[in-house]
Amino acid sequence: MTFHLPDINSLTDDALHAILDKARFYAEGNNDKSLNDKIIFNIFMEDSTRTRMSFEVAAKRLGAEVINFTAKTSSLNKNESHADTFATLNAYHPDAVVLRSAEYNAPRFAMTMFDCPVINAGDSFRAHPTQALLDALTLQNHFGDVTGKTIAICGDIAHSRVARSAYDVFDRLGMNVHIIAPELLMPKASEFEKARRFTDMDSGLKNIDAVMMLRIQKERMTEGVIGTDIDFFIEYGLTQDRLKICYPDAVVLHPGPMNRGVEIADDVADDPYKSLILKQVENGVPIRMAVLDYAVTR
Ligand code: NCD
Repeated sequence: MTFHLPDINSLTDDALHAILDKARFYAEGNNDKSLNDKIIFNIFMEDSTRTRMSFEVAAKRLGAEVINFTAKTSSLNKNESHADTFATLNAYHPDAVVLRSAEYNAPRFAMTMFDCPVINAGDSFRAHPTQALLDALTLQNHFGDVTGKTIAICGDIAHSRVARSAYDVFDRLGMNVHIIAPELLMPKASEFEKARRFTDMDSGLKNIDAVMMLRIQKERMTEGVIGTDIDFFIEYGLTQDRLKICYPDAVVLHPGPMNRGVEIADDVADDPYKSLILKQVENGVPIRMAVLDYAVTR
């Protein structure tokens, strides 16, 4: 059966651990060039810096050719439907498709249209599985075993695909999760089931090993839902003072793009000891190499 990666929960435990182990192998500088002569389609219907670049670097490091499809310059702008677009691209027989889309569940639709693996590079506010895997790899590399560690995910949880997939993977790895957000940016009660919920940083950051800050996804909310950037920073911004509430050796994650001075202070983002943000960026490549390898060669 063709392997697809629409979300974290579609991964068996075996697949999850195989991908994390293979990513570690690649991160150590090994390379089996397992995608030699393969063709990967990068289909990006939404803006991206890290995800798009790292998928492309990953495929090329493994020896594949990458063809970038950009929605803005495609016939989608001539009112061609998504179905016709996917059917057209499938007729070129790619070996894997990487898809980013603003449409809810777009990867599941694409899975019915393509004969090859479809890997979700982020859809709507629903899921971003490869981001979650690279977050997990970053924490495992830092802590060794992450079982029993507690992470606080803070900020705009309601609109965040990163938070949803991160919660799924952290829970699978035996971590405890706090979510900290103003009431209006809290997810529904049916989501993040085992997480402890807090509306203030002072209580939510107690006994925390790692903090993940999130950008306010203004493009996914009606204007005026939340106050000004300055108000947000005062109540929820991660400063060095707030970081002191956590355990002394706590580390900081952010999926990017960061809005400095809104959800995170400059000296926290750039803290040479506590910030793992550029490690996350770096780990994007071995994780995506491992996912592509697993999908195409299995
Ligand atoms: C995020 C995304 O696009 O989902 N970034 C990423 O992929 N690293 C988060 C965001 O847009 O805020």
